[in-house]
Amino acid sequence: MVRLLGALVGLGFLLVLAISLVTGITGFFREPPTETIEHKFHQDPKHVSFSFDGPFGKFDRQQLQRGFQVYKEVCAACHGLNLVAFRNLADLGYEEAEIKAIANQWAIEVPDINPETGEPTMRKAIAADRFPNPYANEVAARAANNNAMPPDLSLITKARHHGPAYVYSLLTGYQNPPANLPKEARPGQGLYYNPYFPNLNLAMPPPIAADGQVTYADGTNPTRDQMAKDVSAFLTWTAEPFLENRHRTGIAVLLFLLVATVLAYLSYRQIWASRKH
Ligand code: HEC
Repeated sequence: MVRLLGALVGLGFLLVLAISLVTGITGFFREPPTETIEHKFHQDPKHVSFSFDGPFGKFDRQQLQRGFQVYKEVCAACHGLNLVAFRNLADLGYEEAEIKAIANQWAIEVPDINPETGEPTMRKAIAADRFPNPYANEVAARAANNNAMPPDLSLITKARHHGPAYVYSLLTGYQNPPANLPKEARPGQGLYYNPYFPNLNLAMPPPIAADGQVTYADGTNPTRDQMAKDVSAFLTWTAEPFLENRHRTGIAVLLFLLVATVLAYLSYRQIWASRKH
């Protein structure tokens, strides 16, 4: 009796599953899933190559310095680098005195407490400070940016697929919306069309708008493309300063495994040398 009941319950479940399968399939054919506007117009990041690509890749210090210059002169007005301190710039080849000067002349001051009065105050940055956020808090950031929040850029190249190529594509990807873009996907007030942004429209005005927007200290021609590439490389360094270490360790481990394999094979030959196969 119990067994019969069990079989009946099982059959009941099977019946429900079968019904939902049939309705699912007929529904799929009667109303095929429509492609979303974002899906149709969104573009994958452009192909762009960097010196740090591949297992032997290394940062180009000269490029990182140029990228830092773009960050400092353009992006820092809206984006902080919460996880990077001024003194980390030593890794890009800046001397201690240069770093102190960069921190001291930084346009955004750092909140602090006056040790004598205990009152909150603002002071000039020092080498040990992180790159300050230009806004006091999220409310202030949104108020200044059409209710959008400029994210901290320390880890942005890690936080997005194909990070460096994505940032590069985003910076060079602003364009007029295509004629066949439906009305509901057209950029509203204060938004800009950019097919590399998942949502197609973003609240960041094109930050790199003209060739020659910065004047590079090393004499490189500051085209828009060059500036976008350099700042993307810089933001890869901020997100992964130990990338070169990681590459080196990977290669060392592979070499070690190779040698260990050869040794293992030779000792196998040695151990079984006296035996006939
Ligand atoms: C005028 C302020 C402003 C400047 C200058 C600016 N940004 Fe932005 N940025 C924003 C805002 C606002 C957003 C948020 C956009 C949104 O969510 O629609 C943003 C978003 C971003 C994003 C994130 C996109 C994503 O996938 O979420 C990246 C990357 C970025 N900015 C890079 C840069 C770089 C690099 C520079 C300098 C070359 C720069 N920004 C300069 C305001 C600015």
